[in-house]
Parts: sequence; structure tokens; C-alpha cells
Amino acid sequence: MDKLVIHGGKPLQGEVRISGAKNAALPLLAAGLLSEGEIRLENVPRLGDVRTILKLLAHLGAEARWEGTEEVSLCAKGVHCLEAPYELVKTMRASVLVLGPLLARFRQARVSLPGGCAIGPRPINLHLAGLAKLGAEISLEEGYVEAKVGRFKGARIYFDTQSVTGTENLMMAAALAQGTTFLENAACEPEVADLADLLNKMGARIEGAGTATITIEGVEALRGARHRIIPDRIEAGTFAVAAAITRGEVQIRDCLPDHMEAVILKLQEAGVEIHKEDAGVRVKGPDRAKAVDVRTQPYPGFATDMQAQMMALMTVAEGHCSITESVFENRFMHVNELLRMGADIRVAGSTAFVRGVERLSGAPVMATDLRASASLVLAALVAQGTSTVSRIYHLDRGYEALDRKLASLGAEIERVPE
Ligand code: EPZ
Repeated sequence: MDKLVIHGGKPLQGEVRISGAKNAALPLLAAGLLSEGEIRLENVPRLGDVRTILKLLAHLGAEARWEGTEEVSLCAKGVHCLEAPYELVKTMRASVLVLGPLLARFRQARVSLPGGCAIGPRPINLHLAGLAKLGAEISLEEGYVEAKVGRFKGARIYFDTQSVTGTENLMMAAALAQGTTFLENAACEPEVADLADLLNKMGARIEGAGTATITIEGVEALRGARHRIIPDRIEAGTFAVAAAITRGEVQIRDCLPDHMEAVILKLQEAGVEIHKEDAGVRVKGPDRAKAVDVRTQPYPGFATDMQAQMMALMTVAEGHCSITESVFENRFMHVNELLRMGADIRVAGSTAFVRGVERLSGAPVMATDLRASASLVLAALVAQGTSTVSRIYHLDRGYEALDRKLASLGAEIERVPE
């Protein structure tokens, strides 16, 4: 295992390029199971979760390989196994995204239940209820979802809670159904729309993706296609906070400002200068950010995946604020570690009350989940002295070379074996 050693205090300067979106790459790769044709994905980020789903797809019998540095070709013609084993699913809950495609094309699937994770129990009841509504027979046996279906039949499905991967799973299942499916109260994240773009290039007939009502007219079969993955709005937001917290000035290239409106507005409210430019945004940190209240919401609200990063900025902001996590039950694992660095935070239920301090002090801290680790890195960049962030395999799951990119902006950050 590696850890990061970070000497705080250096303002970040320069230009950084954002990688393809992790949370688009995962459903897009799963969508490759829907067709015998080859799909080619460009702008694929080289990070842990992508490696995991490629391993899972290979386990199923699909041929997947890197073509150059950021392109993947995937052909699921030779799929011979319909089981996603616990050993793989437990490391990445998004593995559940193979369930809909396997059922749609092969009429059968056995997928391990993902189990909870650090940020909450994260059930998949909405995925299973939707698949049953489309006609699947589903049973839960020995920690696995056993499912089979003659052929999916179009249905009207209402999500009690907006679910990103739930919407994606059902959109993929419905693409090959007989008849038309309506998804109501669907997730509106850009990654859902990106998946619909690929599916339509493969011959699907999907309308309304990116809004809360998606219509999918089922077709007989899907062909191969080529698609470029959208940039990662959470990585871009993380670098915007990095520029802000270090009082630096960073050009964030190849990001889509429209996908990060809520985060941009909130950072501007906190006194961060953000200018939209043709190929991204330019971010200039103030001497000291102002404390602002934050409440996470499904897209287009303030992203839950940016909550921990925003909290890092608020720990050294002027004033005090409240940060409310309304999407997940337990997404404050970064708080205890930030306290070790001298932050002043009090958690009451789903709200953290943060009082800005003059400075944080470097300390040994431990990553617990993906975005919590990003938060600790951001705090260490501004803390006085040296911090070590351990268990950064959490970070490597969701960011491509975050430490190298930060170092290219002048951060004193080094990856060393634990
Ligand atoms: C996706 O997770 C993202 N992951 C998460 O990003 C992100 O935080 C989350 O959406 C919310 O935006 C991927 O896209 C791979 P949900 P997902 O289903 O789909 C409840 C990161 O850091 N729910 O939208 O698993 C659930 O418990 C990761 O990159 C049910 O109750 O999240 C949660 O409270 C973390 N039953 C809420 O809905 C279900 O069947 C939203 O979850 C499904 C979800």
C-alpha cells in the first residue's frame, strides 16, 4: 500500500487536464455487454474502478483491451459466464451495472449483492424492483441476486429515490425490451445522459436522458459504436477547490462548466474567482475563502461527491457554516481526520457545523473512502508542515494520478510505499 507525503503551503499554479469521468466510464463499459459488436471508448480514465470493471468483463468472457493510453476496445461476443462474483463486486459496488445488460442480452444473471460501504448501506432495491417490473424473476440466495427473464417487456417505472446507477441499469435493460419503458423520477446526472448517447449510437431509441423522465423504445439488437467519454466533473471540482484552498491560480482544461454549475456558483459565493473559458475554467483562490452553507442534492444540485472537498475548504474559511449531506447516510468519515489537523467541526445528524480556523497543521491521517481521501489531500495542501495520507488505494480508485497532477501544479507531494 502507498501513502502520500505532503508539505503544505504552496499556492498551485499552472494548467491541468481533466480525465474522462469515472462515473460515466463504468456504465459505458457495462453497456458493451448489450451487443455482439465492438465498442470503442475514448478518454477512458486509468484508475482503479475502471481496472476492476475491465477485470469483471474479462471474467464474464468479454474481450477488453487498452488501445493506446486512453482508449478501450470491448467486444462481448464471446461472453460465456453470467456470474459477477463476490470477490470482484465487493471491491466495487458499481459492478451491479452488469445486471441489467446480462439479463437483457442473455436472459439470465447471477450477481453478488454489493454490500454496504463506508458511506452507507447503499441498497439496490430500486434496481431489483425496476427489473422485476420489466418482467425479471429475481431471488436473493447466499448473498447473490439470481435473475432470469424471457424477454424484458416495456413498463412504466417510478423511482422512489433518484438513483444514478439504478437509472443506468434500467435504461440498459429496457433498451432491448419488447415495447416502450418510461423511467419517472430518473436521475439527471450528466453520466446518465452520456450513457444514453452511447446506447443511441448503438441503435437504441432513448429520449429524455438527463431529465427526470426517460423514454426507452426497445429494439431487437444493438450494434457496436465509438464514443468519447465526458470529462470528470468531480475531478474538475476537486482541482477547483485545490486552487481555491492554496490561494493559487489554475487553468482546468477539458472540463465542461455546464456540468458543474452548482459547485462553481457555491465557490464563487465563497469568494473564489472562476472564469469559464473555451476549454474549461480558470480558478483563482482568494486570500481567504468566506464560509458558505452547503446542502448536497441530486444533480443539478450540489454534488454529494464534492461535499468532502468543500468541507476541506470551509475548515480554513472566514466565518462558520453548515454542510448538510442529504444523499448518503454516513458521508462524514473525513471529519475525524480533519479534526486531527486542527479543524473545528461538529457533526449533528446529517449536518456538519464548521468554524473556519486560521490554519491547519500537518498530521498523519488515514483515507477511509474515495472522496474523503481527496478532502484530506486538499487540507494537507494548505496545512502548515507535513502530512501523510495513508490507505490511498481509496484515492486511486477514483482519480487518475491525482498526486502527479497536483505535483505538476507545484504541490510538494510525494507517493511513498507505506
Ligand atoms: C452513484 O452511486 C455514483 N457512483 C456515486 O459516486 C454518487 O455519489 C452517487 O451516484 C450519487 O450521485 C457511480 O455512478 C458509479 P445512487 P449510486 O443510487 O448510483 C439510495 C463516487 O464517489 N438508493 O444515486 O450507487 C442510496 O442509498 C461515488 O464517485 C436506494 O435506496 O448512488 C443513496 O442514499 C460514490 N436504493 C441514494 O439512493 C437503490 O436501489 C442515491 O444513491 C439505489 C440507491
